[in-house]
Amino acid sequence: MTHQIAVIPGDGIGQEVTPAAVDVLAALDPDFEFVEGEAGDAVKAETGEALPQATRDLAADADATLFGAAGETAADVILPLREVVGSFANVRPARSYPGLDAVQPDTDLVFIRENTEGVYSGIESEITDGVTTLTRVITEDASRDIAEFGFDYAAENGYDDVTIAHKANVMRTTDGEFLAAAEAVGDARDADYDTALMDALAMHLVMRPEEYGVVICPNLAGDMLSDLAAGLVGGLGLLPSANVGRENALFEPVHGSAPDIAGEGVANPTAMILSAAMLLDHLGHSDEAARVRAAVEDVLDAGPRTPDLGGDATTEDVTEAVVDAL
Ligand code: NAI
Ligand code: MG
Repeated sequence: MTHQIAVIPGDGIGQEVTPAAVDVLAALDPDFEFVEGEAGDAVKAETGEALPQATRDLAADADATLFGAAGETAADVILPLREVVGSFANVRPARSYPGLDAVQPDTDLVFIRENTEGVYSGIESEITDGVTTLTRVITEDASRDIAEFGFDYAAENGYDDVTIAHKANVMRTTDGEFLAAAEAVGDARDADYDTALMDALAMHLVMRPEEYGVVICPNLAGDMLSDLAAGLVGGLGLLPSANVGRENALFEPVHGSAPDIAGEGVANPTAMILSAAMLLDHLGHSDEAARVRAAVEDVLDAGPRTPDLGGDATTEDVTEAVVDAL
């Protein structure tokens, strides 16, 4: 069966790493048809819209979407795109690889981040000059859904440690709801799990990441803790992610458009290529996904490497090496 893949490179290094991931997918020759769409700062400057309707439709109709990154318009692009694909779960694996000089070489974490509410509800206002507010929305339904997803993910992927991150000692009502709903899911399954205050958890993740596996988080905590974990394993150039919905999904690197290196051709394509591997898994091409991960690991170990990992290779050099390793 042919799968239609929407490809939205976006801005900055999105334009450089997205073709790399498409090259890798094309080398595997699955039955994919790629359709490209525009989004981000550049198309906004041209048309006034960061996410044109045509691109929304493309993502809605495709079997899965690959998204690079947007620049200043990121919130106007990625939040609606996640909505278009009905994504409620953001999956962010952060693991260390042999041969790389990681801060914590024994890291194998997966953040399961609630992807629809929390402080990213968008309900903000300036009530008077110099006084602003934000409404943090936490519902039982969304909290239960993300916990179900997280416990399923842990079981299906062989993770023994599940941690529910929260700050219910201070945000008693909202994180109280999140924690109670997530604990209810764990208890109903008779699952082994821990709960952790998210600030202390940040410290423990830095000092002893090997004691953790799947971490189920409210929206903002998942965003921040996964970037923290990126620092443990070698940087944002390595972290892929999936935005999973009931029927559709969107795959993107955790990083943004990296304007500081955009246009130089030296962005690390690993995060984007590993996002493509998650897409392969999602569409049932697990063997191909495993091959991509193995090829990426070979190249991370033996080189070539981009400057963020201490090398002097280009995006193209690394992509060619991954395709060769396949
Ligand atoms: P960023 O992720 O773009 O960059 C942070 C740092 O990591 C930079 O020093 C960058 O050079 C480095 N980096 C990131 N990805 C890399 C890669 N693949 N290879 C090598 N180095 C890499 O985050 P930043 O600087 O906070 O934001 C830049 C722009 O990106 C902003 O306009 C922001 O709005 C946007 N952004 C978009 C996101 C999205 O589209 N999902 C997510 C995060 C930021
Ligand atoms: Mg982020």
